[in-house]
Amino acid sequence: MADERHEDHSLSSKEFKFVCEYVHTKTGILLNESKREMVYRRFSRIIRERKLNSFSDYCHLLQTKPDEEENYFINAITTNLTSFFREKHHFDYLQAHEIPKILSQQKKSREQKKSIRIWSSACSTGEEPYSIAVTLLESMEAQLQEWDVKILATDIDSNVLAKAAEGIYDQSRIDDLPKEIQQRYFIKGTGSNSKNIKVSKKLRDLITFKQLNLLHDWPMTGLFDVIFCRNVIIYFDKPTQQELFARYYEYIKPGGLLILGHSENLGAYQKYFSNGGRTIFRKPEVCDQVAAG
Ligand SMILES: C[S@@+](CC[C@H](N)C(=O)[O-])C[C@H]1O[C@@H](n2cnc3c(N)ncnc32)[C@H](O)[C@@H]1O
Repeated sequence: MADERHEDHSLSSKEFKFVCEYVHTKTGILLNESKREMVYRRFSRIIRERKLNSFSDYCHLLQTKPDEEENYFINAITTNLTSFFREKHHFDYLQAHEIPKILSQQKKSREQKKSIRIWSSACSTGEEPYSIAVTLLESMEAQLQEWDVKILATDIDSNVLAKAAEGIYDQSRIDDLPKEIQQRYFIKGTGSNSKNIKVSKKLRDLITFKQLNLLHDWPMTGLFDVIFCRNVIIYFDKPTQQELFARYYEYIKPGGLLILGHSENLGAYQKYFSNGGRTIFRKPEVCDQVAAG
């Protein structure tokens, strides 16, 4: 009964405006009229889950109990669509060009510690970092012991991170992967889990999952060979995108890569990178100072 009552409620312009501003300030995600229906649906679910009577009650709760509600609200509002080997050409490029390049360059310099660092900076439910891990193992498993290989996987949404760290998915999520990849890296569930698969320990061991809002400070100290920033900046406004590109640039090793999603581009920051392929951008070996923002 209560649910039906909420469905009848309309989201007032004032409440919609409040939500848009709140989400933008907290996450960088830009919501506009075209997202009204989506906001309404997700907001309605929150109202039901929180057993409230109106959208304005929830706006009030967000303002009065921000510590309790912020994380919950952000988790509800993010869009987490992803898949294993999404935009496969990025992983093909890593395997064919980037990993061999890293392996050969570091071999030459004996003093340097042999390490590979990759950051999946909006990892959602984990399919992206696990695809990176498969690609690394397929490219260099025999040499793995000589290397310190680490993938950092971060997202603002604590629910998707928990799912990612668990590493359990519906079997259908990997149906399109080659059979040998399925067998090498995923364990089939049994009994009541027979429709599920679990990622193997050797993939899991390469990845550290952490909650990180890209708008906040980044606590990492080292630089990355490759940063994946795919299908996240599309949700941000231009100034936020440009600020982030300046920060990503600083976190990439000279000669390293920044990889964006299919409908994303660097805008004015294109001039600081060279083109490595479809939405693959290379920081020069000798780097310019980048003007922030
Ligand atoms: C559409 S998914 C992209 C997942 C993956 N990178 C891919 O391309 O398949 C976008 C992710 O960005 C995350 N996100 C949105 N705003 C963020 C922010 N300010 N900081 C970190 N992650 C954010 C969302 O939680 C969501 O999981």
